[in-house]
Amino acid sequence: MSTKKNRIQSGLTLLSAVGAGCALLFVSTANANVVPAKDQKSTKSATQNQKAAPRSQSPGNTSPTQGDMLRQMIRSLEMGEAVANAGWLPNAPTDADYRPVVPEQAELGKLLFHDKILSGNMNISCATCHNMTTDTSDGLSLPIGEGAMGLGPVRDTGYGDDAVHERVPRNAPHVFNIGAFEFDTMMHDGRIAENPHHPAGFDTPAGDDLLPGLDSVVAAQACFPVTSATEMAGQPGENPVADAADAGDFQLLWSILTKRVASNNEYFELFAEAFDDINHPMDITYAHIANAIAAYEFDVGRADNSPFDRFMRGDSGAMSMNAVQGMMLFYGQAGCADCHSGPFQTNHEFRAIGMPQIGPGKGHNQPGYSDGRDDLGLGAETGNPADNFKFRVPSLRNVALTGPWTHSGAYGTLEAVVRHHLNPVESLLNYDPDQAVLPYRDDLAEQDFVVMNDKNRVLGILAANELGATHLTDDEFDALMAFLHALTDPNSIDLRHAIPMSVPSGLPVFD
Ligand code: HEC
Ligand code: HEC
Repeated sequence: MSTKKNRIQSGLTLLSAVGAGCALLFVSTANANVVPAKDQKSTKSATQNQKAAPRSQSPGNTSPTQGDMLRQMIRSLEMGEAVANAGWLPNAPTDADYRPVVPEQAELGKLLFHDKILSGNMNISCATCHNMTTDTSDGLSLPIGEGAMGLGPVRDTGYGDDAVHERVPRNAPHVFNIGAFEFDTMMHDGRIAENPHHPAGFDTPAGDDLLPGLDSVVAAQACFPVTSATEMAGQPGENPVADAADAGDFQLLWSILTKRVASNNEYFELFAEAFDDINHPMDITYAHIANAIAAYEFDVGRADNSPFDRFMRGDSGAMSMNAVQGMMLFYGQAGCADCHSGPFQTNHEFRAIGMPQIGPGKGHNQPGYSDGRDDLGLGAETGNPADNFKFRVPSLRNVALTGPWTHSGAYGTLEAVVRHHLNPVESLLNYDPDQAVLPYRDDLAEQDFVVMNDKNRVLGILAANELGATHLTDDEFDALMAFLHALTDPNSIDLRHAIPMSVPSGLPVFD
């Protein structure tokens, strides 16, 4: 009883302190989202053909003011409620928000995720690009896949005939919280998604060839890295998996890999323990492999104990005063929650915000080009030009850990990607390529900045931009950054415990 009272009391003290700090914020945020005259001018001259980009956050918006937010927070604390009950904050995730995990499947998935047996040339695993020592990504702007050696920023591009053919064209995302039900769409362009009308339950690049028996969209995703020549399969002629990939025969490809795994007795026993419907090696399908991998990703990726979560659950001292101010900006005047809403800071929609395009591209072309160096994002999936350059609004959980940032990994610091949001036009036009983390090789480097070095293509990206400018003072910017850091779950910082010492194939786990 008295503890609760103390907690409320200390919360109120904190919030009154924040309130005092906000006296300043009130003044400066009154003009948030209004482009200062100077910026407006440069914006116009820079992109004459840019569509007007009205913001729902422009003056007259409906987002709560700092004063409303503070009053609601204080009221919730006085009532002894979780702060989320203030109304403008999401609720902290609970167990019910996440898919249940069978521990035996997660243990098996941990081995498969780290086992190079799933790659054509047995030289790369999921963990090469989604590594536990680099917070389930690879620390690079763009991955270098099959044929390369080493891990993270010191990964090299390989040697001789085995060397990588090109960079993987998009940044490797982290796998944090993808076990939550609301993550029903995977990839930067959403090309793998739940679809109850599809016979196997998911839209994927395999169309009707997708296997039955996949438990989740994350399991559906785990069917595809193995089919990519640059990621895991290898080049045609090098191995039967690569040949099947080249022929577009997904079912053959999955059955070759499944036979490899099922003929290993240690694996068979683990599958039989983890899945009720497996009594014989022949019972194993690639769907079981994918379901086990997904279970591991759910397990290792759950991250809902950040200072922000604890604050939402009612521990008003969990976040610093600066972070609380940043949270009010994020959910209020800075307009971030227009897109980064909900408990995981994403509305799971696709938006064009003028992000730089680096790397070899996805084989797409802006009008007038034919070299395939563009990445049209959602537009290439839907075929609707109005969707060009739209990319998924990513979750911001653990965002301080998961750089480089954006679909092409163009931004090397969290500060730079947040500043981009405050003025996408200026940021794109003044993009500094030195911040990209791209292991060097002459011929790969020639492709890296083809789009960014072509003003016409850059203007093409800007023409699709939907995000207007937002003005924040330096103090407000610092507060926003403090809030983004408060989204880090301390349990996600060191994930070495989730790496197996060895895998059943006997292939090396540590490069
Ligand atoms: C060569 C590097 C590489 C390898 C190996 C790799 N991935 Fe990825 N992964 C990526 C990239 C790049 C993307 C994003 C691609 C896109 O959006 O177009 C991605 C996307 C994902 C996603 C989607 C996450 C999200 O938020 O949408 C998951 C899950 C994932 N990979 C799991 C795996 C699994 C499981 C394996 C092994 C079977 C694997 N990856 C192997 C690079 C890799
Ligand atoms: C109009 C929608 C929209 C608004 C408003 C918005 N964002 Fe974003 N944000 C996005 C999209 C879309 C991406 C991904 C773009 C890409 O991958 O190219 C993104 C990416 C990010 C990233 C990089 C995440 C990663 O993993 O790469 C950060 C950090 C971020 N936003 C923070 C913010 C902050 C802070 C605000 C408020 C100042 C904000 N965003 C406002 C749409 C938005």
